[in-house]
Amino acid sequence: MLCLTVLFFAVAASAQRSRLEDVRFETMLLEKQLEFALLDLQELRARHERDMRAYAVAAAEDLTNEEVEQPSLSSTKGDFEPRPRERRPGRRRPGRRRKQQQPPEVATSDNNTMRVVAFPKKAAELPELPYMRRGDAPRRRIEVVVWNKIRGFLDWLRPDFVTSARERCSTECVFTGNQRAVPRADGVVFHAKTHRVTDFPPKRPPGAKYMLVSLEQEKYAPLLKHPKYVAKFDAIMTYALDSTLPMISVHPHWDAARYYEAPTLGWETKLDAAVAFVSNCRNAGAADRLAFLEKLMKVYAVHSYGRCLHNKDEPPLRDGQQRGDAKRALLAKYKFYLSFENDVNSKDYVSEKVYDGFLAATLPVYRGTATIDRLVPAPDALVKTADFGDDPARLAHHLAHLAANKSAYDAYFAWRKPPRDTPRARARFQTIIDMTAYKYTALCRICAYLADHQPAQA
Ligand SMILES: *[C@@H]1O[C@H](CO)[C@@H](O)[C@H](O)[C@H]1NC(C)=O
Ligand SMILES: *[C@@H]1O[C@H](CO)[C@@H](O)[C@H](O)[C@H]1NC(C)=O
Repeated sequence: MLCLTVLFFAVAASAQRSRLEDVRFETMLLEKQLEFALLDLQELRARHERDMRAYAVAAAEDLTNEEVEQPSLSSTKGDFEPRPRERRPGRRRPGRRRKQQQPPEVATSDNNTMRVVAFPKKAAELPELPYMRRGDAPRRRIEVVVWNKIRGFLDWLRPDFVTSARERCSTECVFTGNQRAVPRADGVVFHAKTHRVTDFPPKRPPGAKYMLVSLEQEKYAPLLKHPKYVAKFDAIMTYALDSTLPMISVHPHWDAARYYEAPTLGWETKLDAAVAFVSNCRNAGAADRLAFLEKLMKVYAVHSYGRCLHNKDEPPLRDGQQRGDAKRALLAKYKFYLSFENDVNSKDYVSEKVYDGFLAATLPVYRGTATIDRLVPAPDALVKTADFGDDPARLAHHLAHLAANKSAYDAYFAWRKPPRDTPRARARFQTIIDMTAYKYTALCRICAYLADHQPAQA
């Protein structure tokens, strides 16, 4: 009997022990999985940060190259401003020295060495943009506090943006990072990416609108998916065209005129091939883009200068030439520019590619959001892969047709010529590119919105 009891307990204990072992083993597996997931996440984040940094550097180089911003179409004559180069410590990538370190020349309107191209005749014709200053019309003072420091390249407190906003918006548009100004502010801007959910002003001022901004796709700014969090704000500013004040993340800091008047080599001279710059081969839906590109390359000539499916090298930069310019000069030589977004499922999300295509006066071949028509000068200014069932072979067939038929090709550039090139059409496109968050016009739009949504001034 005793023997049996001992045996029973021994068996039970051993069963328990083996169950315990199982649980331990499973825990260990889960821990490992978690570890791997964290590693993946880290890598994804690092890659994303790196892309953003590279993009910021390119954008900054473009800005530097511009030296002087073109006169805004609705600004007063002679209102040229040099773009001060900002020093942002820690932003430069190690091992990559910026070429031109000297500050840009300060140009004045009477200095004919200025490299700016002005379009004074057209400026007078362009209808007024509602967020821009009109002559001497009285302006209401609107003050906006940027609550959490926006790191990286979305920096609305850039001195030249702040100065331009004060002088050139339809309101006297004051942006500050001073949190103590909140009680008298008309608006407080929170940046989703760097915001901690509990970090709000201690007291909500009755007169101030809370505004949330994010230029990230949702997977990078998960707070946007929390209805409770989003409900704290009076206005949402994302790239979604149905948000309160849509902001796009491209950097077209040039005026519409620059797009309309971009010099073109013409159908006869342009290479009978499509040019591609794709360097993000894997994450954020890019694998699908790569597969499309790969199929297209089998049926149509594609010169791929980016990391993915690379088959052409960029010519070296000429002395003093900026990367953005060099790239557009290269694009200009081709009949087609493959402007493919990472992720075709991201509604309303548009990157700088298609705009670069217009600036280079090549024909963008677009693959991305279905709402692209609302973001370009005209729906027939580009070839959309969606119109060909997103089928590389059908697309290639169409490209070959355009490459062989000048009038069919040129029809895609009709928007640039009379009778379609009108002041109204240019103004419409100007309001689109002014949706960029990387120009002081973003500040003007915010202030104009606040002025429209505040009780009248006493
Ligand atoms: C224009 O700029 C150049 C280069 O900075 C300078 O040498 C020249 O004196 C300036 N001319 C005028 C009229 O300001
Ligand atoms: C060229 O394209 C135009 C417009 O699409 C068309 O009317 C014309 O027939 C084409 N010409 C040839 C030779 O295919």
